[in-house]
Amino acid sequence: MDIRLLTTADLPLIQHANLENLPENYFLKYYLYHALSWPQLSFVAVDVSRPRKGPYDYPKIVGYVLAKMEEEPTDGVQHGHITSLSVMRTHRRLGIAEKLMRQSQLAMVETFQAKYVSLHVRVSNVAARHLYEDTLRFRNEKTESKYYADGEDAYSMRLDLDDVAELAKRYADEEEDKDKDESGRANGGDATIKSEGVDEGEAVGEVGRDPEADGKERKIKVAVGRGLGVGDLVEKDESKH
Ligand code: ACO
Repeated sequence: MDIRLLTTADLPLIQHANLENLPENYFLKYYLYHALSWPQLSFVAVDVSRPRKGPYDYPKIVGYVLAKMEEEPTDGVQHGHITSLSVMRTHRRLGIAEKLMRQSQLAMVETFQAKYVSLHVRVSNVAARHLYEDTLRFRNEKTESKYYADGEDAYSMRLDLDDVAELAKRYADEEEDKDKDESGRANGGDATIKSEGVDEGEAVGEVGRDPEADGKERKIKVAVGRGLGVGDLVEKDESKH
């Protein structure tokens, strides 16, 4: 089984899995919005062990987690949200959902410094509640009455990500130590990289270079992506002004 980041090419299969497994369904553009806005946070489980029947027989996606960052958190705290999670019946109780969730939580911390992750779950959803409450240790914040279209209540749950942040820091420290060891070995035991006296080649050339920028680092401030909020991304009719 392979757990990897979701790509836009996966979206039709994710939508299919969602339709199979859950009554909460979304337009394809909502999946696309997740994939393009927070490409680090959603993952798929792929059954790579299944023999391919031909060149157009793609490995089967057997589970997914669709996640995002809360765009305008009411409490002002940067946090993630699980929009949807499901695993195909044929592949349940193998630990796939747990792995998908943990992977997404780690990415929320590493990429966006999320402080916690939230989600909604049906009060009657025994399997998902077991996963969230007992395996992952989410806690129920409040019950939202008639949250779902059919009138069922939802538990609004959250999990603080402090432990995940600690884990992420440990991974980063280990990576740093490994890099130091490797560069130390490459430099004959001295971990500092000596660049003095090393021929780094000629300057690339003057074409397209701004002569005024020499010696100064120029930084231009641009508003991008999530900072704008969805409202700002909507085309405006300015002809009236
Ligand atoms: N009854 C009781 N416990 C269960 C059940 C079940 N039917 N299924 C899984 N569990 C437990 C497992 O035993 C495991 O517990 P453990 O850590 O004590 O061993 C834990 O839940 C995690 O099990 P996984 O194998 O990781 O879960 P799985 O891959 O089977 O997926 C899921 C669980 C996603 C809930 C799956 O049953 C499913 O797709 N259900 C339909 C869709 C759904 O309900 N999605 C969640 C909706 S909420 C939302 O999307 C935010």
